[in-house]
Amino acid sequence: PDERTLVLIKPDAVRRGLVGEIISRFERKGLRLDAMVQRTLDESFADQHYAEHVDKPFYPPLKAFMTGGPLVALVLSGDQVIEVVRGMIGVTDGRRAAAGTIRGDLSLSNRENLVHASDSVDSAKREIGLWFPELL
Ligand code: CMP
Repeated sequence: PDERTLVLIKPDAVRRGLVGEIISRFERKGLRLDAMVQRTLDESFADQHYAEHVDKPFYPPLKAFMTGGPLVALVLSGDQVIEVVRGMIGVTDGRRAAAGTIRGDLSLSNRENLVHASDSVDSAKREIGLWFPELL
């Protein structure tokens, strides 16, 4: 029984022309692309997506970054896809992420870290429901 996860290819990745590189990594891994849309977030949608972070000190600049240009949202599916994609992305801070991961290879920032991915079965359900309600 395959899982699904929500991935955001963030505005820094779109600006840098890395959308194809990032999607290609997921495709080559063998994950399926179930849905995809390009969109520019407004403030209220950013607050909903990052509900667990809205009160944190890093949130105001994160929100400015995430609403500052178009991003690409994907739903990926495959065996243990939530954990597999988290591994492929690397830890939050691009300076610390391991070589071979998306952030480790392509980001030097703790905020502009190219991708977001759901971190648990519960957050995947919540985030897919928010971004792609037609898939539920
Ligand atoms: P993401 O996986 O989308 O989840 C929350 C985001 O907040 C994270 O990636 C980073 O973009 C950002 N973030 C998390 N921690 C920090 C931090 N300490 N400083 C700046 N940005 C952060």
